[in-house]
Amino acid sequence: MKKSCIDLRVVGVEHLNEKYVLLRLTDSAPLPEMMPGQFVEVKVDDSPQTFLRRPISINFLDEERNELWLLVAAVGAGTRRMARLKVGDALNCVLPLGTGFTMPQTPDERLLLIGGGVGVAPLLYFGKKIWEFGARPTFLLGARSAADLLELDEFARYGEVCVTTEDGSLGEKGFVTDHSVLGSRFDRISTCGPKPMMLSVARYSRRSGIECEASLENMMACGLGACLCCVEKTTEGNLCVCKEGPVFNIRRLLW
Ligand SMILES: Cc1cc2nc3c(=O)[nH]c(=O)nc-3n(C[C@H](O)[C@H](O)[C@H](O)COP(=O)(O)OP(=O)(O)OC[C@H]3O[C@@H](n4cnc5c(N)ncnc54)[C@H](O)[C@@H]3O)c2cc1C
Ligand code: FES
Repeated sequence: MKKSCIDLRVVGVEHLNEKYVLLRLTDSAPLPEMMPGQFVEVKVDDSPQTFLRRPISINFLDEERNELWLLVAAVGAGTRRMARLKVGDALNCVLPLGTGFTMPQTPDERLLLIGGGVGVAPLLYFGKKIWEFGARPTFLLGARSAADLLELDEFARYGEVCVTTEDGSLGEKGFVTDHSVLGSRFDRISTCGPKPMMLSVARYSRRSGIECEASLENMMACGLGACLCCVEKTTEGNLCVCKEGPVFNIRRLLW
């Protein structure tokens, strides 16, 4: 898939809570084709601290409005700068990068998409693509508290939404792997979120004999497979998450 380096224009900035911001970006030309699970490398201007681009998942692609959505958790200098963007600003992005999630083969495939924290970001666009294919995914979204559960109405457009919160303020209390929906039968699980959560999802999938893909969020620099700073040990040796991933079948990971 051809990569582009584009100055996208900010057309929407929605502060979802103190930490999270949803950026809607567009271009005068049609945005390139992107697969769910792929990411963009964002250039953050104005600071030597943020010389390296920051990887951010493709949260949503609205083909009708020619909009790309990025869901950003402001955790450090680069993401805080992104959270301060205003409508009309430009944001230079290299996209689309990496591999995507595996799409269902038939509409009756039962897919469970498990996200935690900002790891829910790539699952919205994935859910939309699954829905367009004719299948109806189940989303299982976990967070510390109700205020940290993001885009629930958007997810509900494409499938059933189940939630867990650690403090019990919304949905079932506990972690995603405690949720009762795991009692249902699924053909495949796709997951993205904090590593301990994904390890736990991977253990559950192995025990239950369910295929599972995980989207890794290793630290990245070049995003193009050149600097080796994102390597993950796999059954095939060290692989660059930015190029060979970020989505891996857990059978390839030494988890
Ligand atoms: C493939 C991929 C997709 C991602 N998608 C998103 C997304 O959709 N939305 C989003 O908000 N973030 C996403 N991230 C994480 C995001 O890239 C980092 O939070 C960001 O680079 C931090 O930059 P910063 O300048 O704000 O923070 P820094 O000042 O660089 O670091 C601040 C803190 O964040 C930690 N951090 C830095 N990079 C990462 C990382 N990759 N994973 C976890 N912690 C990190 C640092 O250890 C430090 O504690 C993704 C990461 C990857 C690899
Ligand atoms: S980020 Fe440079 S090789 Fe992956």
